[in-house]
Amino acid sequence: MSNPRILILGAPGAGKGTQSRRLVEEFGVEHVTTGDALRANKGMDISHLDLEYDTPGEYMDAGELVPDEVVNEIVKTALEEADGFVLDGYPRNESQTEYLDSITDLDVVLYLDVDDDELVRRLTGRRVCEDCGATFHVDFDPPEEEGVCDECGGDLYQREDDTEETARERINVYEENTAPVVEYFRDEGVLEEIDGEQTPDEVWADVKAAVEANAN
Ligand code: AP5
Ligand code: MG
Ligand code: ZN
Repeated sequence: MSNPRILILGAPGAGKGTQSRRLVEEFGVEHVTTGDALRANKGMDISHLDLEYDTPGEYMDAGELVPDEVVNEIVKTALEEADGFVLDGYPRNESQTEYLDSITDLDVVLYLDVDDDELVRRLTGRRVCEDCGATFHVDFDPPEEEGVCDECGGDLYQREDDTEETARERINVYEENTAPVVEYFRDEGVLEEIDGEQTPDEVWADVKAAVEANAN
């Protein structure tokens, strides 16, 4: 039995990263996330593409999508190396969806459904461990000691795009570009819709059940 190929969809702050970490632990899959990959390469020189900005970081700090040429390449390489994966943050528009379809098959497509006001609260209160990437929330999931990671003791930081202004812009960009991707998979009849406003443990119970029902 090979490891499942999972796609997790949802707006910024829906809980994709939070649930992906649990999927990695439970199913032994690779976490393939364009957001983390791009954050690790924010200063990469993409001036040869002759587009609006010369680095991924400039798009990210504006809440805009990084050009398809850049993200498609990241995903292709990561998926080639993975034995089972949870893909998080991609595809984000129609052209990325077509590209993904041309390079792999999926076993499960999850969608975490969360209301806009809740998304903003989650994003502006998020804190991330700079060492292990674990995610906390100042109100909804506070670490035992403020500013310190429960899992590894690392320092927690706030993402540069988690200001209220940029968070709202990211949600707008999502509505315009990525909500149609959700519709596409819904029309295909493969979307596992999950109420993402439950507690993290309740969401996880639904996520796990959906993967177990679809992957074998
Ligand atoms: P990316 O890093 O993918 O950000 P995003 O899609 O905006 O999603 P987030 O990581 O903000 O949210 P999440 O769903 O992972 O939520 P989390 O689990 O952390 O992308 C960043 C940028 O990179 C983009 O804006 C773009 O510029 C670029 N980019 C990335 N991919 C790209 C692509 N394919 N094409 C082009 N550009 C791309 O949870 C959020 C918070 O809520 C946390 O604090 C958490 O503790 C809390 N929380 C989680 N679950 C719950 C719950 N059930 N109840 C209460 N609180 C909860
Ligand atoms: Mg994330
Ligand atoms: Zn940590």
